[in-house]
Amino acid sequence: MLEVIPSGKTLGATVAGLDLAQPLTAQDFVAVRNALGEHGVLRFPKQQLTAQQLVDFSARFGKLEINVANAYQEPGLPQIMILSNMVENGKPVGMSDAGQSWHTDMSYSRAIAFANVLYGIKIPRRDSKTLGNTEFCNMHAAYEGLPGELKEKLEGKTVLHDFNKFWEMMRRDKGSKRPPLTEAQRKAKPPVSHPIFLTHPLTGRKVLYANPGYAMRINELPEAESAEILAFLFEHQTRAEYRYAHVWEEGDLMFWEDIGTIHNAVADYAPHEHRYIKRCQVMASEFGEDFAQCVA
Ligand code: SIN
Repeated sequence: MLEVIPSGKTLGATVAGLDLAQPLTAQDFVAVRNALGEHGVLRFPKQQLTAQQLVDFSARFGKLEINVANAYQEPGLPQIMILSNMVENGKPVGMSDAGQSWHTDMSYSRAIAFANVLYGIKIPRRDSKTLGNTEFCNMHAAYEGLPGELKEKLEGKTVLHDFNKFWEMMRRDKGSKRPPLTEAQRKAKPPVSHPIFLTHPLTGRKVLYANPGYAMRINELPEAESAEILAFLFEHQTRAEYRYAHVWEEGDLMFWEDIGTIHNAVADYAPHEHRYIKRCQVMASEFGEDFAQCVA
């Protein structure tokens, strides 16, 4: 019998009593989706999943993204991307620096992401402390916490998001060995605009939909004013009261929604401290044209 145990914090709940290797019943599907709307970030502990079962669970919630540019796909299941710092026979087995700064997935894309599903297989630990947490911030709360006059000023405005912003920040500030994007890669992922406030498809409430990783500018404002307001928003949305940290255990399946949260993968482990996670991304297209082509 499924039980949802809230973290008691701004985000997060543990869902106990479900074996995700089995197909979700219609009733459990509804309960999980409702819990996702209410808590934003769900943990399903002690799972033992094949790659196909991970895909099957994820695909219940929408169309899965296939990242064609990605060398780190699960063989035979391109919907799964491997996130790992492990190296085998001199070759990295996964993307080693995915998500290591505040962002939300696929805000740089016309069709935005609804949810991430991550299955933790190896989690680093040092002196009995778990490393490699995933941190989250609550964008419902961040919207509600904005000063009233700023909410009014920004209502109806749009933000330009660019995939290259995060990519270059990783190269410049985080010592990432990613090569610069080629001209062809940049063309394949041109900057896109989305409303700065979205009405969340699960809660019907407004969220702040801008994130430090990809948001470049507020289109309708002069450059300097846009930069000043974005700097304020990035600081505001990552305030301590909006934060929640997930401390991984092996066998955790983490399911979070990307429209009302932003996240950050904490890179506090060394190359020999192994982290190995499989990820699927669920697109928001099932919520209709607004989210499939989320363009202002
Ligand atoms: C991601 O941004 O999807 C990666 C999160 C993580 O590895 O903790």
